[in-house]
Amino acid sequence: MSSSTSSMNVEAAPASRSISILLVEDEAEVRESLQLQLEAEGFQVMQAESGSEALMLLERSPFDVLVTDVMIPDINGIELVQRTNRLPSSPVTIVITGHGSVDMAVAAMKAGAFDFLQKPFSVDVLSATVASAVRVKHLRDENLVLRRTVKGQYGLGNLVSQSEVMREVFRLVECVADSDSTVLLLGESGTGKELLAQTIHYHSPRRRGSLIPVNCGAIPETLLESELFGHEKGAFTGAVATRVGRFELASGGTIFLDEIGDLSPPLQVKLLRVLQERTFERVGGTRTYKTDARVIAATNQDLEELVATKRFREDLYYRLNVVPIVVPPLRQRSEDIPLLVEHFINLFNERQGATLSGISGEAMMLLCQYSWPGNVRELSNVIERISILKRSGTIEPADLPDKIRRPSAASGSIPPPAIPVSGIDLAATVEEFENQLIIEALERTNWVKSKAAQLLHINRTTLIEKLKKKSLAAIVAQRTNGLVNQSNPVH
Ligand SMILES: Nc1ncnc2c1ncn2[C@@H]1O[C@H](COP(=O)(O)OP(=O)(O)OP(=O)(O)O)[C@@H](O)[C@H]1O
Ligand SMILES: [Mg+2]
Repeated sequence: MSSSTSSMNVEAAPASRSISILLVEDEAEVRESLQLQLEAEGFQVMQAESGSEALMLLERSPFDVLVTDVMIPDINGIELVQRTNRLPSSPVTIVITGHGSVDMAVAAMKAGAFDFLQKPFSVDVLSATVASAVRVKHLRDENLVLRRTVKGQYGLGNLVSQSEVMREVFRLVECVADSDSTVLLLGESGTGKELLAQTIHYHSPRRRGSLIPVNCGAIPETLLESELFGHEKGAFTGAVATRVGRFELASGGTIFLDEIGDLSPPLQVKLLRVLQERTFERVGGTRTYKTDARVIAATNQDLEELVATKRFREDLYYRLNVVPIVVPPLRQRSEDIPLLVEHFINLFNERQGATLSGISGEAMMLLCQYSWPGNVRELSNVIERISILKRSGTIEPADLPDKIRRPSAASGSIPPPAIPVSGIDLAATVEEFENQLIIEALERTNWVKSKAAQLLHINRTTLIEKLKKKSLAAIVAQRTNGLVNQSNPVH
């Protein structure tokens, strides 16, 4: 343990170029001065003045080290350490305590801090403590990757799954993680595209660099260019200082371009250039910057359709589509549901301080039968809501939302057809669905049309009209070939 009196014979810091530190301190003067001193030592430093601001930054992108004062506004330093340790990629924490506050130091270590420093301390001591914290973090990260690989049969990183279809996705992720190739994640909303992007980054050699997300659909078009590429001071009204863009921030790491289908045509051109030449200019600037950021893009839209209708550039599409990974919707992998339910029960028990013990067989069956249009996110929301409202005990059917407990009478027990990422032909799909129901009704009634019509709540004449349709007539001919009782011919 180091303190202001620690000896200085600590090993030299590992190459500090890529070591990122989040510094949390409410006194502006102390904060500024520590930042300057740490930056002079070669660390990348970002500052926050409160616990909540720190948590927001930590959730946005990972840091190697968190250096926090104990006495900070809203969330105190000790609690910040505890909450930080629960993050998927938690930094090593160093807590700064007031002179003589041994109790605080002990509390910090109990909360999981790597070390503490008592004020006043020299920047040399801080710098050495950061260096040994980083060594510990590297060991811890390696260990985590190893443990997760061993655990691999049930998932990858934070991704939980045991389904055959996801195994193929994991295989692709593992193949691609080691390379720098551009990855395009395709799948419906809530299927886990962002989580996959994180998994790829944290399994890649760039995991010590930052993973910088950009939601191209959520940032107004006018701001997006400067978000991506930065701007020079005075580039436009409000550009009071030079700003570094996300491509620069992602240098040595990964940039995650979410909702890529929403990118405007002018920005599509600029992104194409980055992908082709790896260069860009800040808004209002003339200097050309190089970027080595790895690009992962995602969308729940049908990019091919956007290309066909000229809303997305074909050349950009091919640049992005180097390694496409299609994430299947949850309804196509219901064998994942029990595992995900267990995962979310544990997660929300911890987050909400609940003590749910499990789920009844009947409730699980309902979850497995539901179609999950919102995919894994919807399942996560359902379990989170139960953990807040119910708090303890076993999840029973009565705890589930109505739409899951009582599938609507209209849809009966027939699940609605799945819409693949490539989309569907609505008219043809509806016709096919109708044909299936008509055939089922005819088979159940031994091909007696009046009875089948009754079962379908339509007139016999309507059924006869429908049976004249080419597509249905063909199926009927095939099914009835030699099967239909001569006394009950279909035609
Ligand atoms: N296989 C999984 N294991 C554990 N959690 C998962 C899994 N897949 C998704 N999740 C969780 O479900 C939620 C939705 O996932 P995510 O945000 O990655 O989806 P998405 O495909 O990016 O959705 P959108 O297109 O709406 O942005 C997240 O909370 C994520 O952690
Ligand atoms: Mg997403």
